[in-house]
Amino acid sequence: MENHAALPSQDGFLRRDTLTERNADIVAGFNWAERVLYRFSKDPQDVFVERGYRKPTAQWTSSTALRELNEAFPNFKSLIRGKGVLDYGCGDGFQAVAMAEAGAAFVLGVDIEPRRLDHGRRMARGMPNVVFATEAQGEFDVAISLNSFEHFPEPEKNLDELAASIAPGGLILITFGSPWLSPYGSHMNFFTQVPWVNVLFSERTVFQVRRLYRDDLSRTYIPAVNKMTIGRFERIIEKSGLKVVSLEYKAVKDLPVLARIPGAREFFINRVSCVLTT
Ligand SMILES: C[S@@+](CC[C@H](N)C(=O)[O-])C[C@H]1O[C@@H](n2cnc3c(N)ncnc32)[C@H](O)[C@@H]1O
Repeated sequence: MENHAALPSQDGFLRRDTLTERNADIVAGFNWAERVLYRFSKDPQDVFVERGYRKPTAQWTSSTALRELNEAFPNFKSLIRGKGVLDYGCGDGFQAVAMAEAGAAFVLGVDIEPRRLDHGRRMARGMPNVVFATEAQGEFDVAISLNSFEHFPEPEKNLDELAASIAPGGLILITFGSPWLSPYGSHMNFFTQVPWVNVLFSERTVFQVRRLYRDDLSRTYIPAVNKMTIGRFERIIEKSGLKVVSLEYKAVKDLPVLARIPGAREFFINRVSCVLTT
């Protein structure tokens, strides 16, 4: 009887009273594994329950939007200054706008979600050098992919598209986290702090509990994440024929030794950053 009493409030989020009634019904039907996971999860009333994903992925501001790119690529601002930049998988457009403000000559933000592109266009009003589209067209000095590579449904094809969109000698900067087997690679930490929940619990159990926190019909990890492991990422790069300028793995708790242990590294690397060229 999921959602039988779920009435959307005007803005599309579930009303608190509706939520309590609905959650009680869901919890009553839990098996023991679901109860264990629920025991180690947040109070559903503390999590913003939406009908689908309606809010921007992150609440960036123009001063914070480039933080992860600056951390992943220490010379990031000098790499984009005066350059034509493609932001592939741009989401809500915060980085595209911030890159233009940081001195990029032109930025094209590409995403498959029109709603996100509209958000970007609203942010970029009055900035003729920031454009948003559903497809990458043109040739760029630099192409970036921020926190998207573990989401792309066809990452091999997406990397080919990135490669085709840069000028000879241009750069592709990819940074993403968290890889699939890292502590929070399931991307379920919005409701549970249990690390490796995708390893410790079945997919069915995780998604049964997840219903308390997201009012959508998702019952599988794919397609929201593509289960990108470190090994798979390395194979995709190798197959692309691109040259690796740099490839860096950041391990949990800043313990680089964990990223070097064969067999264990998949479980401890929580950020991948690389620079590729033609
Ligand atoms: C987690 S969001 C990251 C957004 C943004 N880069 C950020 O860091 O906030 C991943 C984005 O990739 C987009 N995406 C998924 N598949 C895509 C594709 N084939 N081409 C372009 N964008 C895609 C999604 O719509 C989503 O906005």
